[in-house]
Amino acid sequence: MQMLIKNIACLVNVREENSLLRGKDLSILPCIKNAYLIVEEGKIKGYGEMEHLLPSLTIHNSQLTTIDARGAYILPCWCDSHTHLVFAASREEEFIDKIKGLSYADIAAKGGGILNSANKLSSMSEDALFDAALQRLHEVIALGTGAIEIKSGYGLSVEAELKMLRVIQRLKALDLIPVKASFLGAHAYPLEYKNNHEGYIKLIIDEMLPNIAKENLADFIDVFCEQGFFSAEETKRICEAGMKYGLRPKLHVNQLSSIGGIETAIEVNAVSADHLETMHEEDITRLSKSATIGTMLPTAAYFLRMPFPPARKLIESGAAVALASDYNPGSSPSGNMNMVVSMACIQMRMLPEETVNAATINGAHAMQLQHETGSITIGKNANLIFTKTIPSLAYLMYSFGNNLIDKVMINGRFI
Ligand code: NIG
Ligand code: FE
Repeated sequence: MQMLIKNIACLVNVREENSLLRGKDLSILPCIKNAYLIVEEGKIKGYGEMEHLLPSLTIHNSQLTTIDARGAYILPCWCDSHTHLVFAASREEEFIDKIKGLSYADIAAKGGGILNSANKLSSMSEDALFDAALQRLHEVIALGTGAIEIKSGYGLSVEAELKMLRVIQRLKALDLIPVKASFLGAHAYPLEYKNNHEGYIKLIIDEMLPNIAKENLADFIDVFCEQGFFSAEETKRICEAGMKYGLRPKLHVNQLSSIGGIETAIEVNAVSADHLETMHEEDITRLSKSATIGTMLPTAAYFLRMPFPPARKLIESGAAVALASDYNPGSSPSGNMNMVVSMACIQMRMLPEETVNAATINGAHAMQLQHETGSITIGKNANLIFTKTIPSLAYLMYSFGNNLIDKVMINGRFI
């Protein structure tokens, strides 16, 4: 079954190659104006300018369905490479505490934050967690997300971490969109290990990891490398243990403090180093010279009233950067990637073209999905955003908070 999509005002991010983009290349967004696109068996089969569309394709082809895009822009779906989509409950009581002046660290210190989420998750059944996560997944797909990474990390016990990862595995098995799983057992020290960090690290290494590997439940290993959470040395040890099971690191670093997370991420060859709100000059230089992607999460910085990551400095010094939502109940209760790209333009001075690349092809790289998704490339999945009528690409980011998505196509079908 072939589908011809014609009269596309602008086909965005058309690439023959899947290279990770850095420096000036991030601002180059190849587009075709007045274009057509051919989709076959859920994959991108061809594209070009309308004036080069061969009449032979449309005449006498009973297998062909034609869709008139009527001047829509078509973009590859967003690749959201950092989320905590599986969680038990929202935490708006902490939101109020923060309005009244408490910091993220204050809330964590009084048993709120991640431990609060872990508490709620421990008493929720796998099925109930799955249902709630699936609903969120459908919601973000409708907002244009076409590939997603999801972390564990609200379990913090062998049983509950496995429960979370099984939920992610079930989401993956539905084959709605590509899903990658990261094991984040090292997200916080549970209360019973407050004074026994070594004991919890042993639990991660000796109990959690072997069980996860046995059931093949994770693709990446993540650690929250942060003051009051996991030190750089602890992060390294946990990553190395995960790497023995084939899990590549993908880390939370430099959110609230700079304690050697960037060096550690580079040392363990992390696919990405995420957050980056608190970056020293040396951190920027180091990351820029490395193969590790710097993933920025503007909505988390916004929600926590933190300084935004130094996107311009990172890009200008040659780092490969990605943008993601960090969807979670504590620091970014939104998985809306349209807001993420807008905020990156408005608050981080990224150009619209840079944000599209950072949230599509570079996001795909940050999940190691660059061969499947993240650009309009022959053979990639037809996960596409059809916009409403817009005057330019920049309008998408400029007109923040407005829903400019008309339709979303996943594997060649409108959802
Ligand atoms: O990425 N920073 C660590 N983890 C999450 C927040 C977790 C939470 O507060 O529940 C984040 O921002
Ligand atoms: Fe996170």
